[in-house]
Amino acid sequence: MLNIIIFGPPGSGKGTQSKRIAEKYDLIHLSTGDLLREEVKRGTNIGKQVQYYIDQGELVPDFIIMKELYIKATEHINSRGFIFDGFPRTIVQAEMLDKMLEKREIPVNIVLNIIVDEDELIKRMIGRGVDSERSDDQEDIIHKRINVYKQQTYPLINFYKHQGKLISIDGMERVDKVFKKICTAVDAYISDKTIMESM
Ligand code: AP5
Ligand code: MG
Repeated sequence: MLNIIIFGPPGSGKGTQSKRIAEKYDLIHLSTGDLLREEVKRGTNIGKQVQYYIDQGELVPDFIIMKELYIKATEHINSRGFIFDGFPRTIVQAEMLDKMLEKREIPVNIVLNIIVDEDELIKRMIGRGVDSERSDDQEDIIHKRINVYKQQTYPLINFYKHQGKLISIDGMERVDKVFKKICTAVDAYISDKTIMESM
């Protein structure tokens, strides 16, 4: 099994790259943002609860996220692995993910940290906001989301650095160039792992 986390601020390209990674490595793309937006669209109870947080650019409470994640992960438990997009976002979520995976003796293998300048993030999200249906792609909410990232999510970089899993990727280049860098990093990891397992 191969479990990858794609990590980075709003607008860094997590969703764009996750789709490509999932296709190339035959992984399940698990985006908590997409799962939540789907709940809102379907008008479920959870959807009604989370809409407020999304529209404010705030994080949705951990217990709701873990429930969504658990349901989706269980559906695909026999898959070749997952690409986690937009999750974990807090230390509590990261610890819960480790516990959930430990039970099955399957670790998070690598964490791709996509680095993009703040001006570029804002430009991309405002650009997308012109025709996206996302209620949080408005300038004031975009700033809020970036601040929430800095305060609550950025500390995870040290969490995964300590675990020796963090790989930083320059996300400022074109989509295909960023993808190429990601593939080089993932392929190197897979080949090292194969050598270690054969020893
Ligand atoms: P979520 O859906 O995860 O949104 P986000 O992290 O704020 O980031 P985005 O999805 O906007 O950006 P992205 O990094 O995926 O970039 P993308 O590929 O789209 O979360 C939304 C909300 O849900 C949160 O605010 C929170 O309320 C809640 N939530 C979700 N998960 C949660 C969790 N775990 N815990 C608590 N709450 C949670 O690209 C952005 C744009 O840039 C696109 O237009 C794209 O075409 C373009 N682009 C991409 N790459 C490039 C490139 N290399 N060059 C130029 N343009 C590019
Ligand atoms: Mg996304």
